[in-house]
Amino acid sequence: MIVKERDMTSIQAATSAETNSIEEMLTASGYSKTAINYYINKPHMGQISDADIISEMTGTCGDTMGIYIKMDNGVVGDAKYQVMGCAGAISAARAVVDLIKGKDLDFARSIDDGTVYKVLQEIPVKKHHCIQLAVKTLHKALDTHHLQRSA
Ligand code: FES
Repeated sequence: MIVKERDMTSIQAATSAETNSIEEMLTASGYSKTAINYYINKPHMGQISDADIISEMTGTCGDTMGIYIKMDNGVVGDAKYQVMGCAGAISAARAVVDLIKGKDLDFARSIDDGTVYKVLQEIPVKKHHCIQLAVKTLHKALDTHHLQRSA
């Protein structure tokens, strides 16, 4: 599979002093408290072994993201993500997964870069393409699912 969970492992093993230092660094770089929280706390990071919808994408920067969706009665019953990449990508992936849980696929389709940016509140301008990677990965998942259902 695509992801070595290097980021997750290193953050979860971090001492509180290390976590504070990461928070300070990200704050100085222009990340909001919400975006930092989404980077540090990753309750939905991982895979869904029996996912109905899976999508993986690699951005032009080389960072890679996967989104896994399990449907339940027409809505997203569970969703997880994996990222091998930067703090912006990790924050954006969690925002996308949080947004789609419990919602139908039409709502998921309506999510765009602005929707995710609003959730994260602030990330550095040079990291806005990380949001695009998360949205593109989601939309690729929805496109693949649509094609499979209409085949
Ligand atoms: Fe590549 Fe953030 S730098 S997704």
